[in-house]
Amino acid sequence: MTGAARGIGLGIAQRLAEEGCRVILWDVDFSQFDRRKAGFEPVLTQVVDVSDRLAVEKAFSEAVEAAGSIEILVNNAGINGPVVAAWEYPPDAWDRVIAINLNGVFHCCRAAVPHMRQRGYGRIVNVASMAGKDGVQYISAYSAAKGGVIAFTKSLAKELAADGVLANCIAPAMAETDLLREMTPEHIAASKAKIPMGRFLQIPEIAAMVAWIAGPECSFTTGFVFDLSGGRATY
Ligand SMILES: NC(=O)c1ccc[n+]([C@@H]2O[C@H](COP(=O)([O-])OP(=O)(O)OC[C@H]3O[C@@H](n4cnc5c(N)ncnc54)[C@H](O)[C@@H]3O)[C@@H](O)[C@H]2O)c1
Repeated sequence: MTGAARGIGLGIAQRLAEEGCRVILWDVDFSQFDRRKAGFEPVLTQVVDVSDRLAVEKAFSEAVEAAGSIEILVNNAGINGPVVAAWEYPPDAWDRVIAINLNGVFHCCRAAVPHMRQRGYGRIVNVASMAGKDGVQYISAYSAAKGGVIAFTKSLAKELAADGVLANCIAPAMAETDLLREMTPEHIAASKAKIPMGRFLQIPEIAAMVAWIAGPECSFTTGFVFDLSGGRATY
């Protein structure tokens, strides 16, 4: 479970632990993670930057050693980047958003897939965003990265379809997490206004959907984008 120290990632990890999973947490920053408050004991916590391919490969080997096997990979780590027009977007920020939000998903899948294929079973859940379907103004790098995650998931799912390894992604609308710290109040208000249910998405709602997608009952759906949009998604 990547980006698991707080926010949506922590919520998914808590739900998977409740369902009986033995969970390994990856993050670059565990300062907000409180073991007692988390309500479960992770098998392992690992400081991993998902944009660093070699670090991901090393951490994955250690994770397999600690857990014996890995059945589920949830690629959740992500950043928002600045809210600014594309033609003024700082190139360094663009590179960072793509490196974490898109390349990070590739690195983690690249590390985990051979292990899952060998065992003939795996569930991969990539956290995309409604921005990856719609393309949202002033967050072009984020939208491009998340659109890339969606297309990558579909490609990967087809490649793995006969191997017992399913790859799906989720496209959440806005949830109130630390991700919003990089956003302007106007951007947050505009995102909320697009949600017909008129409220933000709640983390347990995301976790419940991921729990199903990551479980054995999800057996004939792969390469799919599961929306959590409060009525916003139209396709
Ligand atoms: N909050 C929303 O409205 C929303 C909507 C749609 C999609 N998402 C996606 O959900 C995911 C989780 O976001 P969140 O809202 O919980 O934000 P968050 O900022 O609370 O959590 C993100 C976590 O990822 C970690 N992280 C950042 N860079 C990393 C890296 N290079 N390697 C490993 N870990 C890293 C952070 O330390 C943090 O713990 C992200 O992919 C985000 O794009 C969020």
